[in-house]
Amino acid sequence: MRILLIGPPGAGKGTQAVRLATHLSIEHISAGDLLREHIDRGSELGRDARTHMLAGLLVPDEVMIEVVEKRLARRDVVQGFLLDGFPRNRVQAEALDRILTGSESRLDAVLDLEIPEAEVIRRIAGRRLCRQDRRHIFHVDYSPPEAAGRCDLCGGELYQRTDDLEVTVRRRLEVYRSETAPVVDHYRPRGLLTTISALGGVQEILDRALAAISRGPDEAADETRDASSN
Ligand code: AP5
Repeated sequence: MRILLIGPPGAGKGTQAVRLATHLSIEHISAGDLLREHIDRGSELGRDARTHMLAGLLVPDEVMIEVVEKRLARRDVVQGFLLDGFPRNRVQAEALDRILTGSESRLDAVLDLEIPEAEVIRRIAGRRLCRQDRRHIFHVDYSPPEAAGRCDLCGGELYQRTDDLEVTVRRRLEVYRSETAPVVDHYRPRGLLTTISALGGVQEILDRALAAISRGPDEAADETRDASSN
């Protein structure tokens, strides 16, 4: 199964992606984490990406597309993948079409997480990540670790991302509104898109996402419309 996860910064993409990928036995590929791996290695690509990330801007398309294309060429995605944070604009969406066509594969679902911006600011302000494994995500109020500053899962030190300053988050939200939100129109006509609310508990949202994947886009979209009109 091949799934895309779209949504604003702080919507809970990473939190849900880890759980969904585990549940569906597919690889979780986070575009942001691929870039952070380059930053950790001190590569030239990483140094350049860091500048854009700290400014809250998208990394140039040609760089991002190359990084994702290389990742999707690895054998571990043969059973499927959940791609979180890519594509973020039309150019990237078209590049992904080309990559998938080249490997004779196709997408099964695109999940679009919807959340008010005020909640994004609250979620990102309190986010803490584990230095040993970035997939271990906490929140100082919503999902606090048992011991302050320590990861419950592996004991690693918790830290705050350098691009999580409020001024940078507001810029990331602007970029999301202008460049990424329109990407849903690339997938809607293909009947692949389901928009789900990212409000509520983590398990509740996971259940919503899994139900949407198993029902398929059109029926799930109808049910979302019905629920919101009640
Ligand atoms: P990236 O790392 O992808 O960040 P993002 O999209 O801004 O998303 P976040 O990681 O901030 O949030 P999330 O939705 O994963 O939320 P999380 O689960 O952590 O990208 C960073 C940068 O890299 C970009 O700005 C850009 O520069 C560059 N980049 C990446 N992809 C690119 C691309 N394709 N092209 C060009 N540049 C690219 O949750 C947030 C917090 O909320 C956590 O504390 C969590 O515990 C909490 N939380 C989660 N769910 C809930 C819930 N249900 N209730 C309460 N709290 C919750």
